[in-house]
Amino acid sequence: MKEKENYVTKSANFLRKIENHFAEIAPRYRKLRTTDMEPILFIERELSEADRMHGADMGCGAGRYTLRLAKQLGKKCHLLYCVDKSEHMLIQLKNFFVEHGINHFKILHSDAHKVPLETDSLDFVVSFNAVHHFDMSNFLKEASRILKNKSRLFVYTRLKSQNARNVWGMHFPNFTDKETRLYELDELEHMIENTPNLSLKSIRYFEYERTSTLARLEEQAKEYHYSTFRLFSKKEFDRSIEIFKKNITESYDVNNVTWKDQNILLVIES
Ligand SMILES: C[S@@+](CC[C@H](N)C(=O)[O-])C[C@H]1O[C@@H](n2cnc3c(N)ncnc32)[C@H](O)[C@@H]1O
Repeated sequence: MKEKENYVTKSANFLRKIENHFAEIAPRYRKLRTTDMEPILFIERELSEADRMHGADMGCGAGRYTLRLAKQLGKKCHLLYCVDKSEHMLIQLKNFFVEHGINHFKILHSDAHKVPLETDSLDFVVSFNAVHHFDMSNFLKEASRILKNKSRLFVYTRLKSQNARNVWGMHFPNFTDKETRLYELDELEHMIENTPNLSLKSIRYFEYERTSTLARLEEQAKEYHYSTFRLFSKKEFDRSIEIFKKNITESYDVNNVTWKDQNILLVIES
């Protein structure tokens, strides 16, 4: 009993810490992260036969992918629901959409596990870089509920092993040990298989050549561009960033740090 109480308390504190993180970083989030067009173009091709669609982006954040998707789909998307549990992120998204003259969207301040949308009402659901923050099984059940028959859920994420191969996983001490939320492919496959009415249709791997400077990388980590950095104590973070700087200086020209980022996109059919 004692163990369970401790676990529950820790888990609630953990979720609050991450919520505070997203509230704090919301105004800077889009500038701190790198956004790629490839998954958007892939999704557009997958949806090329449909028209006047209703869709949702779950865990849309400040809308960097949502906006690109809305623009790319154009009139083929009649209404795009932007779902996030952080109102700070949603304020950023709203301003961003207005600045870009996009108005076929609706904001839903909601938990991705229980969305105020009707059963069998959507033609597609997307989620970018967010499922490791969700209770994946409940999210899949909810996506299955709101999707129409024979429509698709697109999950874009990075696997635990892909995370270990990026510049942080390779050179920032304890980055991969702290990031316990990401999945491996077999875990995702298993959860999809166990969700009634969902099946994995295809998997697409993405790889991006990156170039940056040590100064920019240091700035991103200190601004917590990945929530993983919030999971370090100040002492641990200070120690790790010093070792990271030393590792990068020893292995690269600090003005030309290169690595590959990898992601995966799951196409799931309802
Ligand atoms: C890493 S950010 C990604 C945001 C955006 N998809 C992107 O790629 O820029 C994760 C987002 O998921 C949201 N989030 C986390 N847990 C959630 C939940 N249970 N329901 C809805 N949104 C959630 C956070 O508030 C945050 O905006």
